[in-house]
Amino acid sequence: MKILVVGGAGYIGSHMVKHLLRAGHSVVVADNFSTGYRNAVPDCCACVELDIANSEALDTLFATHSFEVVFHFASFTQVGESIEQPGKYYSNNLSATLTLLQTMLRFDVKRFIFSSTAAVYGNPQTTPIDEDHPKQPINPYGRSKLMVEQVLEDLDQAHDLKSVSLRYFNAAGADPEGTLGERHDPETHLIPLILQAASGRRSEITIFGNDYDTPDGTCIRDYIHVSDLVDAHARALDFIIEQKCSATFNLGNGTGFSVRQVIDTARRITGKNIQIREAARRAGDPARLVADAHRARDQLGWQPRNSSLEQIIEDAWHWEQQYPWS
Ligand code: UFG
Repeated sequence: MKILVVGGAGYIGSHMVKHLLRAGHSVVVADNFSTGYRNAVPDCCACVELDIANSEALDTLFATHSFEVVFHFASFTQVGESIEQPGKYYSNNLSATLTLLQTMLRFDVKRFIFSSTAAVYGNPQTTPIDEDHPKQPINPYGRSKLMVEQVLEDLDQAHDLKSVSLRYFNAAGADPEGTLGERHDPETHLIPLILQAASGRRSEITIFGNDYDTPDGTCIRDYIHVSDLVDAHARALDFIIEQKCSATFNLGNGTGFSVRQVIDTARRITGKNIQIREAARRAGDPARLVADAHRARDQLGWQPRNSSLEQIIEDAWHWEQQYPWS
């Protein structure tokens, strides 16, 4: 198929592009490189520097290629930053996405695979969280993603635009072949920060909060390997073609690990004595976020295969050891 991958130079997008190319699809990447890296896209893949807020540039792109589906990975994802700069989040994650969707409709492209987030749920009222759990996001990041999901429902009603929204829990890990991985700047995510402490790129890992209502007092999260996320997107593509309907799926492992469990596992795998500092809670962190991903298992036939905590950390450690990345 002829596929546009917006944000294909970023963390999850670049893993998706590798998969789609290997499956024989014709892929065009559009990225503004604000957080992505050109060298995360293989030379053989068409790659356009473009901001999806730019309607004219999108028109030119869509006039040049007859896309059959659009994957959208291009959003800002830092919860803390979204609280400090909400406009930045609504502008890119909502407004620019709307510009992209309007362009799709003008060019009669009616299949859309959207990166959503567990942040749409806010503080969980029940655990594990299924897709019908109340959606009460507690920060602009989560709200911007929920708003896009709502826009997508309306566009399906009005224009028959079919979409699959995939609500990621804690994306983690790296390409098992070692060619791609996580490189955020600044990095805020737990696993890469722990591994930076293991490799000596930072002196310690800070544990944000040790007084949560969890067995060891630290927050519990559902870590899901990036290659399992990619597999779910590939299945979402089959779903949208075969079922011809829109849907929303949680993508998580269904198993939670505490911050201390993640650090202990990283110590075991790296053989390094990772220094810990205990600090106050980080604002906005729920104690426990664990997915009920039965819908994806039932309707997409999806089964996480690489998402043991050990596998996630091994692959991320392999990637960290290649720093600086060429
Ligand atoms: N943590 C630390 N120390 C750190 C970094 C994180 O203790 O230096 C803790 C956090 O407090 C949290 C856990 O590790 O309890 C995981 O934190 P991350 O920042 O890695 O991930 P989050 O759970 O905050 O956020 C992730 C995604 C968001 C998404 C959210 C939804 O990054 O985009 O999951 O569940 F919105």
